[in-house]
This record gives sequence, structure tokens and C-alpha cells, in this order.
Amino acid sequence: MQRNLLITGGAGFIGSHVVRRMVEKYPDYRIVNLDKLTYAGNLSNLQDIEEYPNYVFERADICDIETLRAIFRRYQIDGVIHLAAESHVDRSIADPFTFARTNVLGTLALLQAAKEYWNGDWNGKRFYHISTDEVYGALPLGGEFFTEQTKYDPHSPYSASKASSDHFVRAFHDTYGLPTIITNCSNNYGPYQFPEKLIPLFIDNIRNRKPLPVYGRGENIRDWLYVEDHARAIDLIFHKGKIAESYNIGGCNEWRNIDLVKLLISTTDRILGNPEGTSESLITYVADRAGHDLRYAIDARKLREELGWSPSVQFEEGLEKTVKWYLENGNWLDDITSGRYLNYYEERYKR
Ligand code: NAD
Ligand code: DAU
Repeated sequence: MQRNLLITGGAGFIGSHVVRRMVEKYPDYRIVNLDKLTYAGNLSNLQDIEEYPNYVFERADICDIETLRAIFRRYQIDGVIHLAAESHVDRSIADPFTFARTNVLGTLALLQAAKEYWNGDWNGKRFYHISTDEVYGALPLGGEFFTEQTKYDPHSPYSASKASSDHFVRAFHDTYGLPTIITNCSNNYGPYQFPEKLIPLFIDNIRNRKPLPVYGRGENIRDWLYVEDHARAIDLIFHKGKIAESYNIGGCNEWRNIDLVKLLISTTDRILGNPEGTSESLITYVADRAGHDLRYAIDARKLREELGWSPSVQFEEGLEKTVKWYLENGNWLDDITSGRYLNYYEERYKR
């Protein structure tokens, strides 16, 4: 079957894995990657597939509805996987307005453009919105998990903006009948993650012998999922998920930050050939993140029972692959930290 699939945020971390998977696996699909290329967008993430005949890149802002309308018409879009967002919690604390603009108003503009273009002919259409477990708030220590029934209780400007976008997506289904699906995923890790997030930041700092800033006492807990397992879930849910449903996606893999950091240090030191414990002295406890949610943990039973998905990459194995990837791709990190990556688009696309 042919499809014209719009993927937003495809130049970012998770988006680049989703775009690559779809381009390689579905040669009959035309994959349109729409991305504004904010600081988080990096087209060099997709260098290996950018010449594929079924791949198109469009630099655009999801808040610009006129451009969205034109893109729906130009490519006859019949499916959307929406990942474009401001994604970093610390930045949302410093600048909440940008998060409201992109995550709330941008999602609304995309919903409106899809609704107008599909114009009540929902047959075969899909609007799939990628969201986060952070909309559910924080869990206490112990055996409780987020399910699809957990009430939304966001605490950071980031999670408030994502919760709001989820509500708009549901409202477009309930009010207009738009065929929507939402997934709420836990913390991803793997290649191509922007080095402001815990794992790539700490790998970069270890290789440069810089301090590792652990917030508070490092006691917060996150549930980690290898990014390709997330991309595989997105592919499955886009094709087989039920309209109007939401699905939780998680790694069943909870780690206290400080334990994860110690595992990351020992893995990185071993691969670098450093004596055991060399980089532990880089750990620096710093002021806690404001409103820092204590614990996230996902119950992904619905996805497993209804669609047969479960994580395939064990954490120690995924972390080893991840550390090796960043150490072997030091240029990718250096291009970002030096700002050189910002020129990639101009050099590649404005010939
Ligand atoms: P990212 O920050 O790495 O990438 C975001 C991408 O969106 C970038 O390429 C950026 O240029 C683009 N973008 C930002 N604003 C835009 C705009 N106004 N118009 C068009 N493009 C714009 O993010 P990520 O970590 O890959 O997350 C992708 C999605 O998955 C987000 O919606 C995020 O909320 C969600 N999510 C992330 C995680 C995680 O652990 N990273 C977990 C669950 C859900
Ligand atoms: O749970 C899903 C979410 O996971 C996604 O929706 C977000 O887009 C994604 O950024 C991620 O949010 P977190 O805030 O959990 O990720 P981050 O990598 O920023 O932080 C992970 C944990 O590590 C968190 O408890 C804060 C802590 N931390 C983070 C950084 C960057 C530190 O202790 N020091 C740091 O320098």
C-alpha cells in the first residue's frame, strides 16, 4: 500500500530513528520529514538516508498553519506521526512560553491542518501524537505504576504543555471525529540524543573529564527504554493501534539516577580503558531541579496484551551500545558542543 506520511520532528532524537525506520522499511511510503531545525534538530542524524527516493525534508514550523496546509496539499498527506516538540524539562523551567507555543499551539495547528485537509473523509487516515509519561505527574517509591487510566497531573511547564497537547488531540477526536492515537512513553536513551539529556551529557563530560552534575541526591527514578524499541512500538501502533486509544510505552526498567550514573561511569571507563572507578570523582551533587518528579514507572501491559510489543534491548546491553556509539562518534558530539552542526542544513540543502 502507498502512503504519504508526515513525520514532524524527524531531525530530533527519537524522530530520526522513526524516520530512518519508516524510510528503510516501507519503500512504497513517501516519508515527509517536517522540522523547524531548532537547536535540537540536526539533519546529520539522517545523513545515511537523505538520498533515498521516498524521503523528503521540509523545513517548517508546526505553528505556521499556512505552511502546514500547503504541505498537506502538496504531498497528499494521509498519515501523521507527530513528534515535533520542545522536549527538555530544564529549558521549560527557564522559558515556559516557547513550550506553550510549540507544544500546545503547534500541535493545535497541525490538528487543524489535518482536519481541514481530510475534511471528514477519515478512511485510512491517522493522526498519531507522541507524548510522554510525565503528564501523569510523579509516583511515590514502591510498586505503583502509571496506567492509561492514571489521571493527568503534570508538574513542569514541559509536562503541562504536553498534557495540554494530549487534551487537544482527544478533543479533535471527540468533537470532529479526527482519527487520533496517543502514546505516552518513558525516558528514551540511545544514539543521536542531544547532549543536554542525562546520558549523552554525562558520556560527553566523562570523555572530556568534566564534572557530572547530579541533581539533588540522585534519588529520582526514571524508567529507561532503548530508542529503537520506542521506534518499533511507534511503527506497530501507527499501523495496528486502535483509533481514539492511548497506549503507555515503557522499558519496565527503573533506575535511581545515582545508580544509573555509576553504571554509566563504569561502562564508559571500561570502554575507554581507564582503571575501574576513575571517573567517579567527577560526580558533583548540585541544586535539585525545581519541581523534580520523584519517580516515573510505566505499566505497558495494554500494549503487550493488545499488540504484542515488549522491549527487546536489555538495559546493560543498550547502555553499552550507546556509550560505544557516542565514543566512536565524538565528532557528532563535538559538532554540537561547538555549534558547527547548525551549518549542516545550509551546506547540504542550499546548494
Ligand atoms: P528532540 O528535542 O530531540 O527533538 C525535537 C525535534 O522537534 C527537533 O528536531 C526540533 O527541531 C523539532 N521542533 C521543535 N520545535 C519545532 C517546531 N515549532 N516546528 C517544527 N519542528 C520543531 O526531542 P525527542 O527527545 O526526540 O522527543 C520527540 C518527541 O517525543 C517529543 O514530542 C517528546 O515530548 C516525546 N517524548 C520524548 C521522550 C524522551 O525520552 N526523549 C520520551 C517520551 C516522549
Ligand atoms: O519521561 C519521559 C521524558 O524523559 C521525556 O518526556 C522528556 O522529553 C525527556 O527529556 C526525559 O525527561 P527527564 O527530565 O526525565 O530527562 P533528563 O535526561 O533531563 O533527566 C533524567 C534524570 O536525570 C532526571 O531525574 C533529572 C536528572 N538529571 C538530568 C540532567 C540533565 C541530573 O541529575 N543531572 C543532569 O544534568
